[in-house]
Amino acid sequence: MIYATLKTLHVLAIVVWIGGMVFAHFFLRPALAQLEPPVRLRLMHEVLGRFFKAVLVASLLTLVSGVWMLGRVAKQVVQSGGSFEMPLAWTVMAVLGLAMVAIFMHIRFALYKRLSHAVAASDWPAGAAALGQIRLWVSVNLGLGVVVLLVTLMRWTG
Ligand code: HEM
Repeated sequence: MIYATLKTLHVLAIVVWIGGMVFAHFFLRPALAQLEPPVRLRLMHEVLGRFFKAVLVASLLTLVSGVWMLGRVAKQVVQSGGSFEMPLAWTVMAVLGLAMVAIFMHIRFALYKRLSHAVAASDWPAGAAALGQIRLWVSVNLGLGVVVLLVTLMRWTG
């Protein structure tokens, strides 16, 4: 029951995180491309500020629930006298998941901060540069997330 709850929380957090990145990258951004920089950058700043609050919670929830599940399985195996060997798919998930969390922290605490300063100073070229960097790193995280999902759900690693 606890394991099922952890796994449900884990997957729900991933749905919010990956789904939000897909929406921002493929639907919101292209639709705003025609707007003047001051309007577009202020709007993206507002939207991303709200989205990143949710991702901060979702990414930490993903990490904590994932590590907790690993710990539970390892403990059970060891308590029943076996030795715990982590499946390759779980190793890939944990390593890429940690990379995704680190990249998100860079987006939120370095790049988004840069965007906030630029918007506050009405420095639109600097704002556009920061937003371009955010877009780049969000697409990297989206790619990593899709790889993790394929490896985990398609059982590519056996
Ligand atoms: C941050 C480090 C992460 C750790 C330590 C971790 C660990 C785990 C563990 C132990 C499970 C349980 C597997 C099972 O019972 O079969 C699991 C399930 C799952 N994880 Fe992660 N995970 C992490 C990040 C991620 C990320 C970033 C994604 C997706 C982008 C992801 C997607 C999933 C999915 C879809 C499942 C359910 C798999 C199934 O039931 O077949 N995880 N994770």
